[in-house]
Amino acid sequence: MSAVSITVAPIEGAFAGRVSGIDLARPLTPGEVAVIEAGMDRHAVLVFHDQPLADEHQMAFSRNFGPLEDARGGNITRPEDRRLQMGMNDVSNLGRDGGVLERDSRQRLFNLGNMLWHSDSSFRAVPAKYSLLSARVVNPEGGNTEFAHMGDAYDALDAATRAEIDDLICEHSLIHSRGSLGMLDYSPEEQAMFRPVRQRLVRTHPVTGRRSLYLSSHAGAILGMPTPEARILLRDLTEHATQPRFVYVHRWRPADFVMWDNRQTMHRVRRYSDAYPRDMRRTTVAGDAPTCAQVAAG
Ligand SMILES: [Fe+2]
Repeated sequence: MSAVSITVAPIEGAFAGRVSGIDLARPLTPGEVAVIEAGMDRHAVLVFHDQPLADEHQMAFSRNFGPLEDARGGNITRPEDRRLQMGMNDVSNLGRDGGVLERDSRQRLFNLGNMLWHSDSSFRAVPAKYSLLSARVVNPEGGNTEFAHMGDAYDALDAATRAEIDDLICEHSLIHSRGSLGMLDYSPEEQAMFRPVRQRLVRTHPVTGRRSLYLSSHAGAILGMPTPEARILLRDLTEHATQPRFVYVHRWRPADFVMWDNRQTMHRVRRYSDAYPRDMRRTTVAGDAPTCAQVAAG
């Protein structure tokens, strides 16, 4: 413990924290892992600068916080078209050949859904704990990632709204988020893979006990509520939760590494130019429990 020189400091004017005094490519001590976990509980988003990582380093670092999520069922990319090994989520604009994806590539269009506000894997019955994103090649125009703090957003709701939504259950599916962008054609296999799951609209953080809104562009219905009414409520809450006062904007530098807690934040990527490569690689730490009971698979 005496060798721990890691520090976590708030980023000025933001809820996020900046971590220094650590090399993520080296094995961590239990003390360093504990400092980062505590920093995540407190800040929800942590930024590390100057961390050039290989995929193996990124996966090894991520496993300090739990097993990696099984990425199957989260995308339309076929195994033979993958650019990166299993365990690495490809959120670049690149194809397997290393070139920028064609404008009408289905893979590219599907990935544009990352520009909608979402929480990673909210379309899974057990949604993600942490996501960790490594900037290998940064696009020179656009491409900021924005994070909204859903605990702050929940706290700012009036008491009547909190009481109205506290026990509501939503249905989340990739079909809804991509459908909102006009992507409506899916094979029977994809439709089965993207079957909706249930999530609480208000969730409680397992460590801090803090409540937060659990919103995501994947949410398309609320149990017991007519669909248009549900979607208006979800839009209203999303508009509330993504006001600038709840948002940290990350402007990427090469070798930046950012990790976030999906249980207390939403995020989105902003538009960027596909005239340039953008190589961003994500690892995902699996969550350990559903937010509510699921219906048995039919
Ligand atoms: Fe994401």
